[in-house]
Amino acid sequence: MNQDFRTVRVPLADRSYDVLIGHGVRNSLTSLLPATVRRVAIVTQQGIPYNVDPGVPHEVFSIGIGEEHKSLATIETLCRGFANMGLTRHDVVVGLGGGMVTDVAGFAAATWHRGIPVVHVSTTLLGMVDAAIGGKTGVNLPEGKNLVGAYWQPSGVLCDLDTLATLSPREMRCGMGEMAKYHFLTGDDLLGMGMVDRISRCVQIKAEIVGADEREGGRRALLNYGHTLAHALEIAGDFSLAHGEAVAIGLIYAAHLGQVLGRIGDERVRQHYDVVGGLYELNTALPPFDHELLLALMGRDKKALDGLTFVLDGDNGVEVVAGVPADAALEALRVMARA
Ligand code: GLY
Repeated sequence: MNQDFRTVRVPLADRSYDVLIGHGVRNSLTSLLPATVRRVAIVTQQGIPYNVDPGVPHEVFSIGIGEEHKSLATIETLCRGFANMGLTRHDVVVGLGGGMVTDVAGFAAATWHRGIPVVHVSTTLLGMVDAAIGGKTGVNLPEGKNLVGAYWQPSGVLCDLDTLATLSPREMRCGMGEMAKYHFLTGDDLLGMGMVDRISRCVQIKAEIVGADEREGGRRALLNYGHTLAHALEIAGDFSLAHGEAVAIGLIYAAHLGQVLGRIGDERVRQHYDVVGGLYELNTALPPFDHELLLALMGRDKKALDGLTFVLDGDNGVEVVAGVPADAALEALRVMARA
């Protein structure tokens, strides 16, 4: 392993764990496995640029590519595979891939024998800065994204930066969409840092929030800045927009909505364009989807316990705002479409 690596601890009392970030850290997998481990089930996908060696007998399960495979049917197939290999509570699931793989592997681990350890080896920028950290696992239903899932913290996470050189520009953009979100949560100049520090800082921000609010009773919801419209865009576009691309557009929409509600002024909206479109070089244009459809989809968001709910900027920084009038949400869509 290259010496330039960082360790960030996710502080969750007796379930705390380390995230290792650096070139070659995939070779540290054995150091994250519990001493009891006798077998490992590696859950991965085709096209992942490397394998990992857990140092004990293991089987590899390759799941399909595409959101339609992020399903209960995939969980059943995996669990039947675990049964055939005799995976026990002493053993470990390893999720080797991007956000979809670690979400699915994590959920399979959470439910197999009512929960066995999982270690994530994240292979995308988006996974490293967000999806692999914090224990949200789950799958989609035809009715919506990530509707079935569990909080199941990994025993450790490896973010091997060797993979970044293999990612497509689109995959890099997706990670940048989530990074732009951290920019608004902290004001940090993430792009002024080298890649190891930049990813480590994002992990540190997320670790601190997850440590304080694991089950999204409060602050963790801030990690959804830009996500309410983003999830609606993903569904309305039949997943033609990738998650990070949708988050970039969702951040701009959140700024417009904040402005429509009188929470922020024009200058702050312009700053959102400057950061997302300028600094992070992401597309900020609202796709031409039907506004009423987007509104209906936003109303189904998991945060929407009390009417339309958004994470919005304002005098106190970014915060959760419930009971947003539908007219305001539609007006912000109209304003953004004209911008
Ligand atoms: N991706 C948002 C969260 O983990 O809470």
